[in-house]
Amino acid sequence: MMETSLQYLLFPCLLLCCRTNEVLPAALTVSPSRSQFFKRDSVSLSCEEDNSSAGWTVRRNTTKGTRTQCGDGWGIPSASTCTISFLLSWDSGVYWCESREGAASSSIQLTVTGGSVILQSPVLPVMEGDDVTLSCHTKTAPSNLPAAFYKDGSLIRTEPAGHMTLHHVTSSDEGLYRCSISGHGESPSSRISVSGSDLPVAMVMTPPTKADQGLDKDYDDVTTEHHF
Ligand SMILES: *[C@@H]1O[C@H](CO)[C@@H](O)[C@H](O)[C@H]1NC(C)=O
Ligand SMILES: *[C@@H]1O[C@H](CO)[C@@H](O)[C@H](O)[C@H]1NC(C)=O
Repeated sequence: MMETSLQYLLFPCLLLCCRTNEVLPAALTVSPSRSQFFKRDSVSLSCEEDNSSAGWTVRRNTTKGTRTQCGDGWGIPSASTCTISFLLSWDSGVYWCESREGAASSSIQLTVTGGSVILQSPVLPVMEGDDVTLSCHTKTAPSNLPAAFYKDGSLIRTEPAGHMTLHHVTSSDEGLYRCSISGHGESPSSRISVSGSDLPVAMVMTPPTKADQGLDKDYDDVTTEHHF
């Protein structure tokens, strides 16, 4: 009985690990780590890679072009890092890493605002169960002014110190967030995505065993959270 359960747990986990390596050959990291920027800010985008000979470069889709490569009219490439030293509104768009052979990392959305307020939120999907802190900044004033936070267009709450923590996030926290600071204005919206941990995703791929009612219950719980 015990051996059977273990098989069901381990086999899909091995599948998942192999699959993950193929799907995510490089990760794009952003410095400073946020998805909203003021005009004239600078940003560095790096492809974190395990094989530099694969020739990873940063590419983007904006209103000015699709799949354009760093150095091709925007950004300064250096190894697998791309620096944009003077952001303008039309640098807003989707960025990702791509190898010479066409393998792509997951993509991130960057937004450059001409306004005077930005929301600082995680660039990459956050893990289910984590705490996530959002903060609202103006370009000039100290960063701890009172701010109102909105999700999908509705006010969540106003925070006196300009930052808000979402505790133990679940998929119900996913959505478009923005903030505003009285007398300064409103930030653009950015999406927050929540991803499940690896183990529950692997367990969804496992056929439920009638042998163990306790495990069956876990599968049911997990399946309601993760749909492919
Ligand atoms: C690194 O990438 C190159 C070019 O894509 C490939 O030929 C080589 O096998 C890779 N090496 C490893 C260790 O993955
Ligand atoms: C970039 O744009 C091309 C052409 O519209 C599209 O096929 C591709 O999926 C886009 N890439 C991302 C990461 O959004």
